Amino acid sequence: MHQTHEIAQLGAKILRQHALAVEDVHAPDIRQTIELMQQIMMDTQGVGIAAPQICVSKRIIIVASRPTKRYPYAPQMAPTVMINPNFQPLSDQTEKGWEGCLSIPAIRALVPRYQAISSQYTDLQGVRRTINLEGFIARIFQHECDHLDGKLYLDRVENNGEIISETEFYKLIA
Ligand code: NI
Repeated sequence: MHQTHEIAQLGAKILRQHALAVEDVHAPDIRQTIELMQQIMMDTQGVGIAAPQICVSKRIIIVASRPTKRYPYAPQMAPTVMINPNFQPLSDQTEKGWEGCLSIPAIRALVPRYQAISSQYTDLQGVRRTINLEGFIARIFQHECDHLDGKLYLDRVENNGEIISETEFYKLIA
């Protein structure tokens, strides 16, 4: 039996696939996937998750920035389920920041991301929404959207010297 509560790990093919758009946000299988993602968000110290990470190749993410052991400096926001998300940068300005991923344990790296974006997504009621995001929350959103296109943050690292162990990361931010 397939254990969907396990988080797909680096090397799993599903993490490299282009996820399919959700057609009906109310479909029972979609609701079940979202509930499982919400549960895993609560059980882990993550600040975001994408459906492919629980082995469902659908375009669903949750952005849930909050200070956690993994990200002590993360700003607080209400966890937000975002279906069929996409975005446009509001300027060319990018900044490098530390990222990790539940699918790539024990590693952190500096990743360049757009500093400010206009994001669009469909909410749990099926309403299309637009919201401007910046800084760390924009970073999480871009990281999770990458998961839907089969990309991982290590693909965006510019220099191997900017990949460090989680142990060193915690020393850095102490
Ligand atoms: Ni990730």
